[in-house]
Amino acid sequence: MGLLEGQNVVITGGASGIGAATARLVHEHGGAVAIVDIDEAGAHAVAADVAGAGFVADVSDPEACRAAITAADAALGGMTALFNNAGIGAAKPLHDYSDRLFAKLVDVNLAGTFYGIRAAVPLLRARGGGCIVNHASVSGIRPTRFEGPYSAAKAGVISLTMDAALEYGPDLRVNCVSPGLIETPLTAGVLADREVRTAVEDATPLRRVGTASDVANAVVFLMSPLAAYITGHNLVVDGGSYLPNSQADAILRQFGM
Ligand SMILES: NC(=O)c1ccc[n+]([C@@H]2O[C@H](COP(=O)([O-])OP(=O)(O)OC[C@H]3O[C@@H](n4cnc5c(N)ncnc54)[C@H](O)[C@@H]3O)[C@@H](O)[C@H]2O)c1
Repeated sequence: MGLLEGQNVVITGGASGIGAATARLVHEHGGAVAIVDIDEAGAHAVAADVAGAGFVADVSDPEACRAAITAADAALGGMTALFNNAGIGAAKPLHDYSDRLFAKLVDVNLAGTFYGIRAAVPLLRARGGGCIVNHASVSGIRPTRFEGPYSAAKAGVISLTMDAALEYGPDLRVNCVSPGLIETPLTAGVLADREVRTAVEDATPLRRVGTASDVANAVVFLMSPLAAYITGHNLVVDGGSYLPNSQADAILRQFGM
């Protein structure tokens, strides 16, 4: 029997990358899936792969987000879990961000997560409970240079996750995942450079770049009965990459260690 047998899972940003990998893994574990994405063709393609339903919405539009999650809930016959996964990134010096790009990064990554939670809570409660997994990032724990607005938004996602866990227990469990660098369409350009890839591998204790499946496994775990006593947790999925101490490592390298 699959880990998610009987579960009905809504995944935002499920048309690509980690969201699509999670949709496939939920399906493999016996769960039903609905995808909500701004990319209409992608949403329908992944939904067709997993015998699910696809809906189009920009999660940063509160009414569109609510309407799509409500429609997804109806199509599934009542949702039991939400993966608030849709997100976008950008990298540039902080003082070069326009008002518009700053607002967009916060609107999609942070406000979009809030709109998803707001829409899903009454629907999940109507089914007697369930769980929410939000998508944060290691950049939300310690910021990545040039990703200021993104990092701040993801820090907000971690905080919102803990708040929702406090507010909605015992009916709902609310957790988040914080990946390091994961190979998806979002990062493919950067990782195509051999030197960059090798540098990333060298700085990662598990010596490889993460895959969308690595994160999907963590999300399915958090949604499953195996995580029944886990709420308010931020599960880091980064191959240990945020552990190295750059000051000590520089000294150790001098001694050939
Ligand atoms: N790839 C990484 O290295 C990495 C690391 C940490 C966190 N994350 C997070 O993982 C999540 C998924 O990223 P990914 O790497 O799979 O990227 P991706 O670009 O492959 O997928 C993102 C999906 O979100 C959808 N989307 C974007 N904006 C949207 C909006 N406004 N409304 C609805 N859908 C929208 C896209 O159409 C796409 O299907 C994001 O929240 C990202 O911040 C990724």
